Amino acid sequence: MKRIKAIYPGSFDPPTNGHLDLIERGSKIFDELVVAILRNPEKDPLFSVADRRKMLEAMTEGFDNVSVDTFDGLTVDYALRVEAQAILRGIRAISDYEYELQMALMNRKLQPGLETVFMMPAAKYSYLSSRLVREVAQLGGSIACLVPEIVEQKLREKIDIANKFENGVGTATSNAEPRGKTKTKTKTTTRTKKS
Ligand code: PNS
Repeated sequence: MKRIKAIYPGSFDPPTNGHLDLIERGSKIFDELVVAILRNPEKDPLFSVADRRKMLEAMTEGFDNVSVDTFDGLTVDYALRVEAQAILRGIRAISDYEYELQMALMNRKLQPGLETVFMMPAAKYSYLSSRLVREVAQLGGSIACLVPEIVEQKLREKIDIANKFENGVGTATSNAEPRGKTKTKTKTTTRTKKS
């Protein structure tokens, strides 16, 4: 019997309830689903890859057929390495579609045998993005119901550390970037999708 393995690649900085919703949907249609965190040295993430992995592992421990991994390089190369047949991606609104289509077609050009499968998260998460969660949390807004409890807790820890740095207390560690309450990412990229 043919078993279908899929990867769900992304930045997950941080993972949200929208991601979790998609993981749950993906776990129902694929035999195996690997949530694959991109190790991207060019990005300046809020959470280290290790932290993101821990959060995703905690969030997905209830799913028998879901695992968490990290990768670098091309997504299609990673998919081939782990012998996946499909790439799962979420589309929240029409604004995601153009970027996702471009990526799916490029991935197909690179690896024609690999299919991209798009799924829609629940409508209540259609406005939700990691970027907005970071921004709301950093500016002191409530992120309850937007992220799982473990992520909310980790975000609060990060923000407390950042506030201590602002007040001149605390010591730097590689995992505790001095991000101020009002400091948000303003980096401009050509992509339109907000992760
Ligand atoms: O959560 P994100 O940031 O929207 O995820 C984007 C991701 C990781 C899926 C995309 O940037 C990616 O696949 N990067 C790996 C490098 C690669 O394969 N680039 C070509 C994509 S067509």
